Amino acid sequence: MNDLTIRHLLIDMKPPLARHWNGGEVFLSAFFDALSMSFPVGEQFFIDSLREGLTQLPADQQPVWAREIQGFVGQEATHRRLHDLYNQQLASMGYENRWAPRIRQRLKRLEAFTDKRHKVAVTAATEHLTAIFAAWLLHHPSVLAPAPARMRQLWLWHASEELEHRSTAFDLYRALDGNELWRKRWMRLVSMHFALDLMRQTLHHLWRDGQLFKVATWRGAQHWLFGRQGLLRWGASHWRAYFRAEFHPRQFDDGLALQWLGQHQDQWRTISKP
Ligand SMILES: [Fe+2]
Ligand SMILES: [Fe+2]
Repeated sequence: MNDLTIRHLLIDMKPPLARHWNGGEVFLSAFFDALSMSFPVGEQFFIDSLREGLTQLPADQQPVWAREIQGFVGQEATHRRLHDLYNQQLASMGYENRWAPRIRQRLKRLEAFTDKRHKVAVTAATEHLTAIFAAWLLHHPSVLAPAPARMRQLWLWHASEELEHRSTAFDLYRALDGNELWRKRWMRLVSMHFALDLMRQTLHHLWRDGQLFKVATWRGAQHWLFGRQGLLRWGASHWRAYFRAEFHPRQFDDGLALQWLGQHQDQWRTISKP
């Protein structure tokens, strides 16, 4: 079992956020802003699917799992709350969240499956994508180096907690005796939808700002996604690892996350400790 601490991040998201807040890097700022749009609705789904999954376990196993799920729910709920405030700022700048309604539509379709384990598998797949992004951020401090302190704090705190609870959904799926074929199938589907939706939302922001057809924007995209240390190039082998029979999220090193959390303890109030 994972012991998960719930932290209340001491951060003020109310002061207005500058457009292209990441040191004027247009593509990266739009990419992060787009990603944030998916969190409140996505993280609520993770919370609901694991709570539901917990009820599917044999009664004698539920108390063993309850504590970890409670930690997971607490962490995701605090992420949701802050990203909601962040998204309100984005809305006031004129960016429209076109991604969240699309997620809601897909989740409605997921309700057609009576087997609750599908939702846990979708959560496990998305959590692995999140863990890859989180690890990339922590391994590449230059990504957020020019950002205002509070934005760096928000993203690195979120990234660290994502690595902390990276195996909760996966372990629950295994405890529920989830099917391996579906585990991998959902990863393919989730990855495809996630990549397309993230791209569409990012393009909307770039278009809205009149940056879509500028060479510098696409140079940034090339560098941060496909460059030597770019997210897609760096993350490809971690993504493929999910399809191995012996894969487990704990194989993903969380050393940098623990280090970050250890060094920034003055930046939150602990709500609940295991
Ligand atoms: Fe999260
Ligand atoms: Fe998560």
